[in-house]
Amino acid sequence: MYMKNKSFYIENYGCQMNISDSDIVTSILLKNNFLLSENLEKANIILLNACSIREKAELTIKKRLEKLKFFKKKKKICIGIIGCFSKQIKNLFLQEKMVDFFVNPDSYREIPNFIHYFIMGKQYSHTAKKNETYADISLIKKNNKKITTFLSITRGCNNMCTFCIVPFTRGRERSSDPYSIIKECKRLYHDGYKEITLLGQNVDSYLWIKEDMIKNQKNIVDFSRLLDLLAQEIPFIRIRFSTSNPHDMSDKVIKVISKHRNICKHIHLPVQSGSNKILKLMNRKYTREQYLSLVKKIKNIIPECSISHDIITGFCNESEKDHQETISLMNEIKYNYGYMFSYSPRPGTYAYRKLKDNVPKDVKKRRLIEIIDLQRNHSFYRMQEHLGKIEEVLIEGESKKNNKYWYGRNTQNLIIVFPKKDLNIGDLVHVEITDTTSATLIGKLCK
Ligand code: 5AD
Ligand code: SF4
Repeated sequence: MYMKNKSFYIENYGCQMNISDSDIVTSILLKNNFLLSENLEKANIILLNACSIREKAELTIKKRLEKLKFFKKKKKICIGIIGCFSKQIKNLFLQEKMVDFFVNPDSYREIPNFIHYFIMGKQYSHTAKKNETYADISLIKKNNKKITTFLSITRGCNNMCTFCIVPFTRGRERSSDPYSIIKECKRLYHDGYKEITLLGQNVDSYLWIKEDMIKNQKNIVDFSRLLDLLAQEIPFIRIRFSTSNPHDMSDKVIKVISKHRNICKHIHLPVQSGSNKILKLMNRKYTREQYLSLVKKIKNIIPECSISHDIITGFCNESEKDHQETISLMNEIKYNYGYMFSYSPRPGTYAYRKLKDNVPKDVKKRRLIEIIDLQRNHSFYRMQEHLGKIEEVLIEGESKKNNKYWYGRNTQNLIIVFPKKDLNIGDLVHVEITDTTSATLIGKLCK
């Protein structure tokens, strides 16, 4: 196949990790003389960065491919699926001849080869490097207005929650070298970034061990040490991190967050369910009581810390009583915000193979609506705690709803909008909170 220019366009479907992966892929392709296209119509290579965490995400990709198929008839383009996809969906797309190549999260370095071979009309297959971290890839800044970015510090997951496909699509957990993380963060600072979110499926289990053969010692960096090092090495950058598995969050980590001004006071702490029976079936390795005491500890050490959650409704065998336990846990904590999903079985997982997806669809949906409504009330309640306070806000851009307002976030990761003054994206300013909705704080700039 003849290709006039090697311009590529990436579409993202999924979590922050996928956005970060798209940045890695963009950097790899740019270094290999491909051109980044801002416009799908102008691109010859279209990469869909897929997500398979829930059935809905896979269906979205399927629908998108149907549309692109039409586009492919008009113009010779190459379509690749990268990222997280299940074996089942790969086979389906292959059968229907919808996709030219597939690249899993451990093989991004091979994308230029996949494309070249495709152009030559050949098939290319590659065995994934199981220890890949991409720690040496420096991210290329595509947009000068962007001042926040993601940086993966661990890849994969060893936790095997019974509902989750991630250990199958992203493999075993591995951590990047701390010194390359520090080096990359410093480079990102010099590139103009003001906030970095450290990413991992389970950042609290970050662990890097190097044996010093001469001194016969082990040099160990765990997540608390990494945070401590980074906070000192990049004092002018805001540091965030996600996701924390409650089972792995140590007291040391909580103390380091409280110690450093530039580590943001927000913890995303997925609970998934408030029922011990369901937590056990999910293999979450903590109880409701342990989770509640962790939240108490966080609030004791960092009173201003915001906490968000992920919750799944309608997991296998979830009774009305289990659902009520989730509701009572939410009432006890009153999270700042959260992400809620109804359970969808994922092929290959323990729950898919061994448990019955026995909560009817309408019950799942009703329970989901109940917790979403409850969370909205809690978010509003928590937002009101900010009224009258003066908060530090990093300006990220214009408000989408009103271009006369700036939009930014405070340390708790809550969105704040305030009337524009002569300021710039990336400025750190003080804003007095004057009003609130359940999702946004509204304020005015302090003189
Ligand atoms: N069904 C519904 N939600 C899921 N999640 C992960 N797997 C599933 C599934 N099979 C949710 C969890 C996780 C978040 C990223 O996605 O709440 O924390
Ligand atoms: Fe999935 Fe559990 Fe790992 Fe999170 S911790 S990625 S839910 S297996």
